[in-house]
Amino acid sequence: MDKKPLVVATRRLPRACEERLATDYLFRMGDDDANYSAEALKAHTEGAAGLLVTSADTLDATAINSLPDTIRVVATFSVGYEHIDLEAAAARGLKVCNTPGVLTAATADITLFLILAATRRAREGQALMLAGTWNGLRPTQLLGSQITGKRLGIVGMGRIGRAVASRARSFGMEVSYHNRRPVAEGMDAGASYVPSLEGLLSQSDVLSLHCPLTPETKGLLNAPRIAQLPDGAVVINTARGPLIDDNALIAALLSGKVSAAGLDVYANEPNLDQRYLTLENVFLLPHLGSATLETRTAMGMLAIDGIDAVLAGRPPLHCLV
Ligand code: DGY
Repeated sequence: MDKKPLVVATRRLPRACEERLATDYLFRMGDDDANYSAEALKAHTEGAAGLLVTSADTLDATAINSLPDTIRVVATFSVGYEHIDLEAAAARGLKVCNTPGVLTAATADITLFLILAATRRAREGQALMLAGTWNGLRPTQLLGSQITGKRLGIVGMGRIGRAVASRARSFGMEVSYHNRRPVAEGMDAGASYVPSLEGLLSQSDVLSLHCPLTPETKGLLNAPRIAQLPDGAVVINTARGPLIDDNALIAALLSGKVSAAGLDVYANEPNLDQRYLTLENVFLLPHLGSATLETRTAMGMLAIDGIDAVLAGRPPLHCLV
């Protein structure tokens, strides 16, 4: 009988995914969730045909070029793929797959969670409870702002942006979006299209980022753009940290130009700008957008589907190159 191909993962995966890999392949897992240098990744993937990575693994040209020749497919456990040098992968003839679609609901849910946490001052409320200093209801204590009737601006109206729009509408928000072009009729979840980013900013009481990180969108929310937000706007980011210029956002949070922020993603994760920790008007989560058992299992299964397809000589469903 032919030996099964070896598939390697860089991190632990939800149990059902690890069981599937262990049944269908020789499976080597990254059992301590370590960050791999290009050198360590090369050693970890020796002899492998498939590699399953996450958005926390950087596969730049150096890492890709040091992968063993046996590797035919890289599947990333993420919809985002800015951590992979697709040109370098294509030049080596590697197939690269990702996991769009299955994390839409979970990420949209956590966006609403952050909108509510930021506008309702959840960090300060939590701190009061944990300090044991809450002295009972006070009519003027920790007054936040109500989202009903407020204007939500969505930057990037892909699957997640649209799911956020529909959830926000059910909270009574007025929703607008900016995208390179308007979404197809019937797909806008009741949100209005604003052709320019500047136009959207000036009418966003809450601004939520949902665009991919590319060289064009890096630093998209910078000081001049923050200046165009209404005074006291709230900023939410569940997409990618480098979309925001941290110096500009932190200055705006300190001055009150931005009254609060809800962040799930950061530049240079996990080494986020430490000044965020000191700001009471920022609610922080550790990149949990897709972190439900259901969603993370579905992401793993979709990534494995991609590996299965390539190793069986079929075209994968979500192929980036
Ligand atoms: C994604 O899928 O891109 C999420 O951010 C998890 O990495």
